[in-house]
Amino acid sequence: MKLIRLSGFIICACFYAEACQPVQETFGGSCYQLLTETMTWDQGDAACSEMGAALAVPDSLEEHQFIWEMFTGIVTVGNLWIGCNDREEEGKWMQSGEGGECNFFNWAPGEPRGVYSDCIQLWRLPNGLMDDKGCSYPRSVICESPVPLAVPTMSCLQRYADVRSSSHCLTGHVIKEFSAKGVISCGSACRDEPRCRSFNLRRGGPGEMICQLNNITRNEADVKNIRLDNGCKYFEFLMLSV
Ligand SMILES: *[C@@H]1O[C@H](CO)[C@@H](O)[C@H](O)[C@H]1NC(C)=O
Repeated sequence: MKLIRLSGFIICACFYAEACQPVQETFGGSCYQLLTETMTWDQGDAACSEMGAALAVPDSLEEHQFIWEMFTGIVTVGNLWIGCNDREEEGKWMQSGEGGECNFFNWAPGEPRGVYSDCIQLWRLPNGLMDDKGCSYPRSVICESPVPLAVPTMSCLQRYADVRSSSHCLTGHVIKEFSAKGVISCGSACRDEPRCRSFNLRRGGPGEMICQLNNITRNEADVKNIRLDNGCKYFEFLMLSV
């Protein structure tokens, strides 16, 4: 989380969305997810596409090694399907759907062999080198998808202080009250509470702050509910587009 202090009265916090999901690993611009149960190449193709991904296709030696290490770090026996087949035309290795041609190969000695072996597996025996194999053999699969764009969401808080820098908090509309470290933790709590529209940060005991979540903003409040209180600061979210 990045904190930007624009002035004493406006505080902005920027959150970035997680890139790959926790079960996935990141390499280059892609997220990789291993499906350890074994399945045919077509089942693997369908399982990946159901997740919005495709069977992984290594485009470089580094990516090939990354995939093989990810697999062998989790699964200690068996081979792994990757996303290339030559069903349409012998020797022309294609990805499924709109994926286009596969153009990186790191074949095991003597491979590829033949007309009945239309799908590429990473073969454990020669340490993950490529081998063409009948597509209906059961293998683990690895799915690849582009890293989603990290969408930063900016939230800004405006602190309202009235003349002579005394503070006026909003009373009578508190829906939750608890102790908090400061403006950011109180603001995060407000963001996470659907009914929260603004909050007060009050001085509590020594070294303590009290966070009060309000269900309306100051503009909507009756004037009698806006009270002068030097130990209290009022904040609400500012609408800014980034
Ligand atoms: C806000 O909360 C108060 C209690 O603090 C409640 O009496 C009031 O009805 C609530 N108003 C809205 C608009 O939800």
